[in-house]
Amino acid sequence: MTSGIRHFTDLSALSGSDLRGILDDAAVRKARLKAGERSKPLEGKVLAMIFDKPSTRTRISFDVGMRQLGGETIMLTGTEMQLGRSESIADTAKVLSRYVDAIMIRTTAHDRLIELTENATIPVINGLTDDTHPCQLMADILTFEEHRGPVRGKTFAWTGDGNNVLHSLLEASARFSFNVNIAVPEGSEPEEKYIDWSRANGGKVMITRSAEDAVRDVDAIVTDCWVSMGQEHRARGHNVFLPYQVNVELMKHAKPDALFMHCLPAHRGEEVTDEVIDGPNSVVFDEAENRLHAQKAVLAWCLGA
Ligand code: CP
Ligand code: NVA
Repeated sequence: MTSGIRHFTDLSALSGSDLRGILDDAAVRKARLKAGERSKPLEGKVLAMIFDKPSTRTRISFDVGMRQLGGETIMLTGTEMQLGRSESIADTAKVLSRYVDAIMIRTTAHDRLIELTENATIPVINGLTDDTHPCQLMADILTFEEHRGPVRGKTFAWTGDGNNVLHSLLEASARFSFNVNIAVPEGSEPEEKYIDWSRANGGKVMITRSAEDAVRDVDAIVTDCWVSMGQEHRARGHNVFLPYQVNVELMKHAKPDALFMHCLPAHRGEEVTDEVIDGPNSVVFDEAENRLHAQKAVLAWCLGA
């Protein structure tokens, strides 16, 4: 990070110790909030949020998180800004940097995030791109560790589509030293560069076509929608993905106490059955809650609070 600006673009862009520090801070902030303590370290700070795709959790958790920290937010969509009339990302970054203290962006091509980051003089946070979703993984690791203790050395299985959330899971696996078993149908593999990066940085990654093989004896099973936002054009028949559905039968191959994790929104009856997502091993709503706590720590790290 040569500029000295603390961007939160990807887990691969931060050190393991920085990420661990953010998670530790998230746990402390969460405990203090539950104990009724309120501190306002971001009083007077403004976060601009740009959404080029829909959102429930990311939008509300950043908004509430910023308010809890004493700051304010401005909610924007790309189409209502001049961005939608072809003002460049670079110029937009320079203008916003004169008004606000940080930018959170959910967008399409990852290059748009990078261009924003390269031209902003304030921190930029990745709220999901076509390629990655790092804030989700911060919440997910926080959640796993709340339920099962240190994630180091544990094994996660991913079944379904090899998408942006899996890419960030792969980055997390190297940064937090856990293993990832991946089961995806042909044509839905994650991008090779994320597997290569994870392995090059100490991650242990196994990839197979068999969901049963991937989930055998794992500590957590993670899945996500079969068709991500903006990927509708490459949607394929659900029969291709059905063998990757997380159902009670599949869960039986994992450890008996294996967690079921999903970033939400879920497509019940597709990637997961009601029995699993509403079952005793599911922590999906803890993950959703922890978006708030993890992102407050990300905001505090970015803004030096
Ligand atoms: N998991 C997640 O990012 O949810 P939203 O799309 O609702 O923000
Ligand atoms: N992979 C999903 C995640 C949604 C939070 C998508 O990009 O649509």
